[in-house]
Amino acid sequence: MAFDSVKHQAIKSDDGSFTAYSTEFKEHYHSTKDGALHESLCKHVLPALKHCQDKDEIHILDICFGLGFNTLATIYALKDTPQKVHIYSPEFDEDLVRSLVDFTYPDEFIDYKDIIISLATRQKYESENLNITIFLGDARTFVRETDIRFDIVYQDAFSPSSNPMLWTSEYFKDIVRLMKEEAILTTYSISLATRIALEENGLKVYLHKGEGFRSATLASKSELEYERVDVQHKMSCNPQISSLKD
Ligand SMILES: C[S@@+](CC[C@H](N)C(=O)[O-])C[C@H]1O[C@@H](n2cnc3c(N)ncnc32)[C@H](O)[C@@H]1O
Repeated sequence: MAFDSVKHQAIKSDDGSFTAYSTEFKEHYHSTKDGALHESLCKHVLPALKHCQDKDEIHILDICFGLGFNTLATIYALKDTPQKVHIYSPEFDEDLVRSLVDFTYPDEFIDYKDIIISLATRQKYESENLNITIFLGDARTFVRETDIRFDIVYQDAFSPSSNPMLWTSEYFKDIVRLMKEEAILTTYSISLATRIALEENGLKVYLHKGEGFRSATLASKSELEYERVDVQHKMSCNPQISSLKD
């Protein structure tokens, strides 16, 4: 397969969709058990879009672009709605982005070939209702420097143990500054250190569980209709755990 390189190899996940393995981070891009498409939809896209269903225009921060599942699954989930969507996604692996023309995406993304080619070749796609921009560079720089305000943040970096710089309290301080008052953050991470970092930057933390996927986390400055995680209680039971720091 032309997509495969020294740094990443395509791997079939349990829902039949392909993800990839990063030899650099020694980690898969998605949970192979939840499945790449299934994980993207269940843990990120569907709860976030449900939260924003009354908005005419949605600004999304997709951390980080990777194989682009969260961006493409967002387009897929919104295909019958008139909502205007702007997606901004940092990604520092330019070779990966350029190789996506050769990646085997699930059938659900069959109509998005033009979008994928445009993103892989010029890191941009524009249509009447959809604007996507990939920023080739460090996500930390992007979140520090942008003045865009977001309705949705997909926090989908590699795990805190292999990519700690995108999970620190200082990083989340920048993320929270970019979130509108009613914005929602989605992440697969259920680690207490992540949840402490979210809460110490002013977010309320919620458990996101459902049929057919492992539990995840949602967070917002405002109240959500999900089970609130009692982070303070968990901290008192685990005093040795604290948020990651730069
Ligand atoms: C778990 S993958 C993202 C998966 C992606 N959301 C998807 O749906 O395919 C993490 C990505 O973060 C990128 N990355 C890691 N650290 C970064 C940083 N500091 N700035 C920009 N991109 C980074 C990696 O190259 C990788 O593509």
